[in-house]
Amino acid sequence: MRHLLDIESTSVEDILKILDTAEIFLKVLDQPSKKLPTLKGKTVLLMFLEPSTRTQISFEMAAKRLSADTVSFSPSRSSMQKGETLLDTLLNLQAMEIDAIVVRATSPGTPHFLAKHTNAKVINAGDGAHEHPTQALLDAFTVRKHLGRLEGLKILIVGDILHSRVARSNLFLWRKFNCEVYFSGPPTLVPKEFEKLGAKIVELDEYIDKVDVIMALRLQRERMEGSFIPSQREYRMFWGITSERLRRIPESTLIMHPGPVNWGMEMDWEVNERRNTVILDQVRNGVAVRMSVLYHLLAREK
Ligand code: NCD
Repeated sequence: MRHLLDIESTSVEDILKILDTAEIFLKVLDQPSKKLPTLKGKTVLLMFLEPSTRTQISFEMAAKRLSADTVSFSPSRSSMQKGETLLDTLLNLQAMEIDAIVVRATSPGTPHFLAKHTNAKVINAGDGAHEHPTQALLDAFTVRKHLGRLEGLKILIVGDILHSRVARSNLFLWRKFNCEVYFSGPPTLVPKEFEKLGAKIVELDEYIDKVDVIMALRLQRERMEGSFIPSQREYRMFWGITSERLRRIPESTLIMHPGPVNWGMEMDWEVNERRNTVILDQVRNGVAVRMSVLYHLLAREK
């Protein structure tokens, strides 16, 4: 693997390699000494041009657990404020010997652009509404851990599909494993075009008791101009994982959310109280999966 830019162009073989190595790293994270010397001497640049809690800390932890050095670039305190371009910034940071760049950006394609101009390995940590490959990988890891397989599952993704890089990366991933991917949400946020990519658009209430996984998504208000939903109350009523809906969801169905959750809208708090709600396990597994991505890109390079 040269970079990790998206799931669409990542092979099944590479996906499985990443997930299998992550199993080993998850065991390491369970040990009292959580650190391995694997990436000693390597430097990972965290370039988050858009807000992040989970993903940024998760990548930083993953790099540190493997003994890499991490440096963070924050646009609001950088010379980008003086008008320095992204390309110039990249070339200057690269002159300080960076081995990998983890980038999150508002513009789709930013990681692909950086990859063309650097010798460092580029990892996409979310580019606008395009893709978020490590999120889909950690989702797949979590599903495999709980359900024992990746093939032939039924995955229902609910909410703001239109603006969601998580939905896109998950769609590409699950289709590679012959899974059925169902999208549900307000018609304004679930474009018909997704059917061309292999998703089925369905009514939530018809499918909540027929799937292996339900993944709710956050409304991406920062990517919305104008009004896409009637009101928060109506959103909850029609597309929320509410206490009432919970009673129709089988115990064995996994409930997931990439975070951050708008509690009381996308999900009622009660969802947390059931055994197969795995939202925090997704977060936990994310560190191991990102360790694995860094390992495959940096430790195994020729
Ligand atoms: C997601 C993101 O930023 O794409 N969060 C995450 O990385 N876990 C989802 C979101 O912001 O809604």
